[in-house]
Amino acid sequence: MKPIYFPEPFRIKSVEPIKILSAKEREQKIKAASYNVFNLASRDVYIDLLTDSGTGAMSSAQWSGVMLGDESYAGADCYYKVQEAATRIFGMPHIQLVHQGRAAEKVLLPILLEGKKYAISNMHFDTTRAHVELAGARAIDCVVKEALDTTSYYDFKGNMDLVRLEKYIKDLGAENVGVIIMTITNNSAGGQPVSVENVRAARDIAHKHGITFMIDAARYAENSFFVKQREKEFKSSSITDIVKDTFEGADCFTMSAKKDAIVNMGGLIGCRDKALFEKIKQRTISFEGFTTYGGMSGRDIEALARGLDEGIDENYLRYRIGQMQYLADRLSDGGIPFQTPVGGHAVFVDAKKLLPHIPYYEFPAQALSIELYREAGIRACDIGSFMLGNDPDTGKQLEAEFEFTRLAIPRRVYTQSHLDVIADALINIKERAKKIKGYKIVEEPPILRHFTAKLAPL
Ligand code: F0G
Repeated sequence: MKPIYFPEPFRIKSVEPIKILSAKEREQKIKAASYNVFNLASRDVYIDLLTDSGTGAMSSAQWSGVMLGDESYAGADCYYKVQEAATRIFGMPHIQLVHQGRAAEKVLLPILLEGKKYAISNMHFDTTRAHVELAGARAIDCVVKEALDTTSYYDFKGNMDLVRLEKYIKDLGAENVGVIIMTITNNSAGGQPVSVENVRAARDIAHKHGITFMIDAARYAENSFFVKQREKEFKSSSITDIVKDTFEGADCFTMSAKKDAIVNMGGLIGCRDKALFEKIKQRTISFEGFTTYGGMSGRDIEALARGLDEGIDENYLRYRIGQMQYLADRLSDGGIPFQTPVGGHAVFVDAKKLLPHIPYYEFPAQALSIELYREAGIRACDIGSFMLGNDPDTGKQLEAEFEFTRLAIPRRVYTQSHLDVIADALINIKERAKKIKGYKIVEEPPILRHFTAKLAPL
């Protein structure tokens, strides 16, 4: 029997035109962009899958909230609304607004890592790793080994490896570990979920050793929907209850609201301890702005207050995860390899398997991103050796564990027909895969080179 997908629980009131350029025009545009998709103008892109962050479509309720946004410097009405929604949903007594996820990391991580040497996470997102390192500590990833095999099914590939976690704490010394971070869902492993059982166990290990337990909550709602689908204990629970159970006993969280809260800009920090909250407020005033607006305009705060509840609506999540599963099934039927099972916000296509003749130093995942643009004006991105860059000591190209081309799906933006275009484009590319060639870098900056490097076909 064909699986049942869940249709959009909304109708469309406002549309934004997009157009597809001719194949000849696309060839000119990608060449002019030096074969780097970050250099493309978005007007030249038909379906933009660069990220699911800040690219979602707000609802009519959010847009009407924009007009009600209170722009007062202190004590704006929307500030109290966000406080009410966030304390109710996450069960944390103290909430601080900031302008996005990395701002939350910049404010909180140096406090937690003062005098410490390590942060351990199931997997640090790039900016989280950067802020751990900027605070003078090292970031250690500790994901379960099942995540590394892209072909095998496992319910919770985002989980922390608890045995290795205990071993790291013993070997490094608990007094040197400033924080244990649970990233839900696990973006870098492919948007893979973490079970509540695993969150609880990691939290208990942290607390047994007197270490702060933090959640990176960017995709907390998608994670909760997977928990409902896959974790027996929560089969009959509401998403609201699963979110509460996930956050229970966590000491603090950071959140990029640009994902599951479906806003274009925004972030939150939450914590339980009053003394920690005082420090968070002080740093927020220096880096973001006064505590009641935290670097955001009132209209964006109002939209965020409303988005927090929309993001955990079960009908919305059934449609959202249903979209991912529809696309994944079409790709499986077409023989396209990807991180299995599909995650919550993106399909991570395994370019190493699709283009086995292109070695890592000729960037197979980047080559596949370029082919997607050539084929159908789709913009995806490389999460592989091109993004990883060179060894800082030897200057030699590093080899990534995975060569993924990430297709991140914005929320409430594209229809099932768009998903069909994506699947058909990849199937067409697979048919001519053997003829696709790799790329060389002709110009690159020393750090974060993938954003600006120039490439040429081989
Ligand atoms: N944590 C996770 C797990 C993320 O995925 C991101 C952003 C951040 C923190 C930082 O949040 O962008 O609001 O500052 N991820 C985006 C992505 C950029 O494309 O995956 P931010």
